[in-house]
Amino acid sequence: MNVRITGTGSALPGKILTNAELERLVDTSDEWITTRTGIKERRIAAEGEYTSTFAAEAGRRALEMAGVKPEEIDLIILSTVTPDFPFPSTACIVQDILGATNATAFDLSAACSGFIFGMSVAEKYLRSGAARKILIIGSEVLSRIVDWQDRNTCVLFGDGAGAVVLEASEGAHSLLSTHTFSNGSYWNLLYQPGSGSRNPATDSHTIDERKLYVTMEGNDVFKHAVRAMEEAAVKALDANGLSPSDISLLIPHQANRRIIDATAKRLGVDSERLFTNLQHYGNTSSASIPIALDEVNRQGLLKPGNKLLMVAFGGGFAYGSALVNW
Ligand code: ACO
Repeated sequence: MNVRITGTGSALPGKILTNAELERLVDTSDEWITTRTGIKERRIAAEGEYTSTFAAEAGRRALEMAGVKPEEIDLIILSTVTPDFPFPSTACIVQDILGATNATAFDLSAACSGFIFGMSVAEKYLRSGAARKILIIGSEVLSRIVDWQDRNTCVLFGDGAGAVVLEASEGAHSLLSTHTFSNGSYWNLLYQPGSGSRNPATDSHTIDERKLYVTMEGNDVFKHAVRAMEEAAVKALDANGLSPSDISLLIPHQANRRIIDATAKRLGVDSERLFTNLQHYGNTSSASIPIALDEVNRQGLLKPGNKLLMVAFGGGFAYGSALVNW
């Protein structure tokens, strides 16, 4: 039984926040942001737009491309670190918006690697026969957990969503493998201290000590990200008897241009085979790979038989890869 990507979709806020506009918010410059990260602008959700808003729209577009009706979906897996509410799951809200009345729906927490983890869970459902059509969504409104007074972090992130429909079917165009890894020793290098059970949002200290915002040791995260993405990519290649020269396109998690370039260099993947769009969207966490995949797909950048490698790294640490025969 093959597992095929039959549809992709993405949805982004209309509002663009440029580096020049950020210069007016914090002590930074377009030059610093561009040279250190490659990011030029990012999208920011407007009032009344939530994680479910973008998730549902990206999902709707993916279903439309796949020619799948919402009620045909067996499972919705939604990856996010910025759910609409702590509970119920944002996946249930999206199920309601889409009218996917026959789906089981749940959220998955693996930070920036959430989409790859979602693909991996979906793959197991499909190969075991527990589901036939699955909608996997990565959606984030990071602008609501970013400290707009902290130049170390606020310049990096953006909002948006991407989605894929995965189906069990015969024939080509298949998901060859997924690999997931976790290294909890480093959980406190990148996290949101407040709003959970340790520092409840109901505690005034949580707000006063700015614990509701993303906190990150950028340099350490950088080093781990490069090593871990290489490891996850090599695992995917080895498992399929492939070498880097067999890869037609690499879609890495869009966190930082320098992380991406260093990873590609270590793997021996040249820039022509590397897809990036972080200059437009910044780091959208678990949405970054499915947004990129949708752009690649709609631009027709992949031909049948091409090998597509996706690789992610993020808070947890959680990291992983997915390899597709297009
Ligand atoms: N504008 C201007 N100056 C800044 C800014 C800013 N926005 N942010 C930090 N600086 C300053 C620092 O204060 C520091 O100044 P100092 O030397 O006077 O103390 C100086 O720039 C250098 O800071 P570093 O942190 O050493 O800069 P670095 O080159 O490491 O770049 C960055 C920082 C971009 C955060 C980098 O470490 C990085 O990308 N890390 C990966 C983190 C990441 O991508 N996280 C996302 C989530 S994980 C993931 O998705 C992979």
